[in-house]
Amino acid sequence: MRTKIVAGNWKLNNNKKESKQLIKDLKESIKKLKLKDTRVIVAPTFVNLSSSVKEAKKSKIEVVAQNMHQAKNGAFTGEISADMLKAIGVETVILGHSERRTYFNETDAALAEKVDAILENKMETIFCFGELLEDRKSENHFKVVESQLSNALFHLKGEDFKSIILAYEPVWAIGTGETASPEQAQEMHAFIRSIIEKKYTKEVAEKVSILYGGSVKPANAEEIFSKPDVDGGLIGGAALKVADFTAIIKAI
Ligand code: PGA
Repeated sequence: MRTKIVAGNWKLNNNKKESKQLIKDLKESIKKLKLKDTRVIVAPTFVNLSSSVKEAKKSKIEVVAQNMHQAKNGAFTGEISADMLKAIGVETVILGHSERRTYFNETDAALAEKVDAILENKMETIFCFGELLEDRKSENHFKVVESQLSNALFHLKGEDFKSIILAYEPVWAIGTGETASPEQAQEMHAFIRSIIEKKYTKEVAEKVSILYGGSVKPANAEEIFSKPDVDGGLIGGAALKVADFTAIIKAI
């Protein structure tokens, strides 16, 4: 059975006090849920990672980073390395989010290097990808997703996928209120599994968790999560409110 995961990407939101409070409230509100194997993840901004890790200690909540640089160290002003994150207790990093690709020009080639740095440091990534609206309209969405995966991940060995969580996020559904239908999500997730099986093995494809992201909210989470190849969600806006995020976790 694949691990179920609900991850909250806080993006550029919450100062130190707000981050600690949100984790504190979340700890309290998920206490009543029987989560067992479900992973609950939050991704605060870099400056609030240390205090968030402390706040989340001895709870079910895992604190992860939203990005990192691929180099170990050097002249890269403003950047943070895998090793620096690991040293403060962060083991997982979101990579390739569409906002990073769009506003910060992150390329598949750079992402391939970032993934390598994750593996070298024995860390884990939530690797994001997904097509633009124009790709879907021109029916190129499968091709685009396949090339994003093959360019950034398909140089890896099958066993490396133990350290990879995939997050399919159609760009047209992020922060727009427009969600992919559960059928569209399932169709793409099944396709993703099929290309992983083709490149690696059925076992690798069956084991990797694939999250859906893009305007997931309490009202649509249950239906999306009910699809067989959807193993959870990467949540933006709705992760900022304890009640909404808890309801989404409950829906898994
Ligand atoms: P959203 O963001 O839930 O606000 O659409 C999802 C994401 O960017 O991961």
